[in-house]
Amino acid sequence: MAPQRFFASDNFSGTHPRYLGAIDAANSGHVVAYGGDALTQQAIALFQDLCDEDVEVLFTFNGTGSNIVALGSLLQPGDSVVCTQWSHINVDETGAPERILGVKLHDVQSSTAKVTPADLHSLSHNLGNVHHVQPGVVSITQATELGTLYSIDEIRELCDVAHSYGMRVHLDGARIANATAALGGDANTFRAMTFGAGVDAVSFGGTKNAMMGAEAVLLRRDVASPRAAFLRKSSTQLPSKMRYASAQFVEALTSGLWLETASHSNAMARRMYEKLRHVDSLRLSPPQVNSMYPVLPGEAKKKLQNWNFFWDWDESIGQVRWMTSWDTTEEDVDRFVAGVLYFLGE
Ligand SMILES: Cc1ncc(COP(=O)(O)O)c(C=O)c1O
Repeated sequence: MAPQRFFASDNFSGTHPRYLGAIDAANSGHVVAYGGDALTQQAIALFQDLCDEDVEVLFTFNGTGSNIVALGSLLQPGDSVVCTQWSHINVDETGAPERILGVKLHDVQSSTAKVTPADLHSLSHNLGNVHHVQPGVVSITQATELGTLYSIDEIRELCDVAHSYGMRVHLDGARIANATAALGGDANTFRAMTFGAGVDAVSFGGTKNAMMGAEAVLLRRDVASPRAAFLRKSSTQLPSKMRYASAQFVEALTSGLWLETASHSNAMARRMYEKLRHVDSLRLSPPQVNSMYPVLPGEAKKKLQNWNFFWDWDESIGQVRWMTSWDTTEEDVDRFVAGVLYFLGE
């Protein structure tokens, strides 16, 4: 029987065979633990090359942990983190930033899940008042939790405004590969969108992009705390057998697999859109990366979810999320589209 594939999330899928191969190849003999091994040194050098910047590279277990390490390395006493109401740090991390970092999140309202310069101008009125929490770090997500993208110019402008107020900028890149693939598809795009635009810290996602539990934090060394590695350990994110995460990043960055899998995933979402765009009731927008947020009538939604599970997104308006993955095939898309049309009676 063919393996079942869903359109719920890019972490429902498994691990790419080439990453499993890299793990297998790394699984021989004894090496120094906690990152003292040759593969980790190679992976760090590859990331430094990718960023073309003096960055500290810290591998972690998961995206929530990456965000904690990245944010904590940028925060100063009395600071808050500015984000949108949709941001993963705000709604999907069980209050981890608040609990572990003891920080207030300033969640600005956005229909596109994007922080704007106007938000920063407005919050800047708190600066310097000792009775007010200081908006010290801006956290943006690329691609966002609503599948939208900041353009490179938008990120540059946001960083310029943030820096003019003395704020630092964190980028939650759980889906940075999908964003990079969509905005140009090469290392230059990645650089221009992150450190080149002025971003100070990046949570670089691997797990949603075909890896097995491999994430990285990239920190601009002259801005982030020199104690970031200590924060990684004290927030339980220091892998002892680091070679397995490092082996995957070496494979990703030397062969370009990270962009190959992300562009494929984006293309599958585009295919689904092209086949369903004529169904007005779904209110589909063209996907910018690998997700879409259609509206479904209650009965059809339940039947579809029972047949091929996906998550609700905004239940108040019957909105759901469909997301493709590195291993989604054209046949998977066509079969799902046929199911959607069937249950909608189209
Ligand atoms: C935008 C974003 N950031 C971070 C994460 C990290 O999640 P996890 O801690 O589950 O790896 C996710 C996962 O859904 C995400 O969508």
